[in-house]
Amino acid sequence: YHVDWDASAAEKGGYDYFMLKEIVEQPRALADTLLGRVAADGTLTLDEMRLTPADLRETSKIVIIACGTSYHAGMIAKYAVEHWCRIPCEVEVASEFRYRDPILDRRTLVIAISQSGESMDTLMAVRYAREQGARVLAICNVNGSTIPRESDAVLYTHAGPEVGVAATKTFLTQLAACYLVGLYLAQVRGHKFGDEINTVIGQLAHMPEQVEKVLDTVDPVRALARSLADADTVLFLGRHVGYPVAMEGALKLKELAYMHAEAFAAGELKHGPIALIEDGLPVVVVVPSREGRGVLHDKIVSNIQEIRARGARTVVIAEEGDEAVRPFADELVEIPAVPTLLQPIVSTVPLQVFACELALAKGNDVDQPRNLAKSVTVE
Ligand code: G6P
Repeated sequence: YHVDWDASAAEKGGYDYFMLKEIVEQPRALADTLLGRVAADGTLTLDEMRLTPADLRETSKIVIIACGTSYHAGMIAKYAVEHWCRIPCEVEVASEFRYRDPILDRRTLVIAISQSGESMDTLMAVRYAREQGARVLAICNVNGSTIPRESDAVLYTHAGPEVGVAATKTFLTQLAACYLVGLYLAQVRGHKFGDEINTVIGQLAHMPEQVEKVLDTVDPVRALARSLADADTVLFLGRHVGYPVAMEGALKLKELAYMHAEAFAAGELKHGPIALIEDGLPVVVVVPSREGRGVLHDKIVSNIQEIRARGARTVVIAEEGDEAVRPFADELVEIPAVPTLLQPIVSTVPLQVFACELALAKGNDVDQPRNLAKSVTVE
């Protein structure tokens, strides 16, 4: 009696590529990252972070540094942290940070986001920030890696090992970790939107189920991606937290499908990018949730109309039941309605699937894209 056992297929959990497995693992990865940190009554426990409430009450400025996909998590964190904590927050790609003489002191909290904990650009920025007297909190996925070892504090994401070079589940867990830090800071500092903070904590705890819903309904995106495999360019539009999500969608497409892809803040469209719109050009639009930010929602609906009138093929990612976008969407991808600031956790998933499927249609190896490394340990 003989059983064929393919070690590599087993490792991939029956999927052809690690990336496909890692996309599907996202609800679990998120739940593991929230586990033990969010109590049922809304209390957050981030003890292992090693920053005392006194340290955090003193913070007068936050500076986030990261590279690649981690940088996009940082951009999203800025919207959340400034809104919840009312602390000025800047975000910068790590490779630029230390070369411009940034203003840092001991009341500056630097948050270094790195999946691997080994990116040289981020590590050098961490060293520089500490030399200047800032406190550094690392958000990392790899236990005991260099960046957390050299930081004052660390909050680990619990995504498990990620093999695919393009980050997927680690990105969603970085978002969760950033939200936890922002909400914790708001709690510690006694924020005036106390009720909102508690509500968001409850909603964050339910995000794994929301991602599960996206995964259950994302199949049509695969066929759509295949239909666009011959496009030369794909543009992405978003605003508010949807803007970094659009950037992440474009980055995934470059990394995996080797395609020209570019993201714009939708409000900038009329300041240049609209000149690129021509007949048949695919434009993916991430529509903000209607909750709280109805104005932005309506503005982006106008943008969709404007580009469609100029021939764009509109691929619209919007909340379920958003009837306002339907007439202008050549393709509509519906995601669950969640609070605005948390929307990136659900809106990123169809973009990952889109890029992955398009790359597979081109015959690319999505686990090992050409010219890229999982962690870049040179400057
Ligand atoms: C490389 C990887 C990207 C990743 C970036 C930052 O470029 O290919 O997927 O986002 O490094 O990596 P880090 O480990 O610091 O998050």
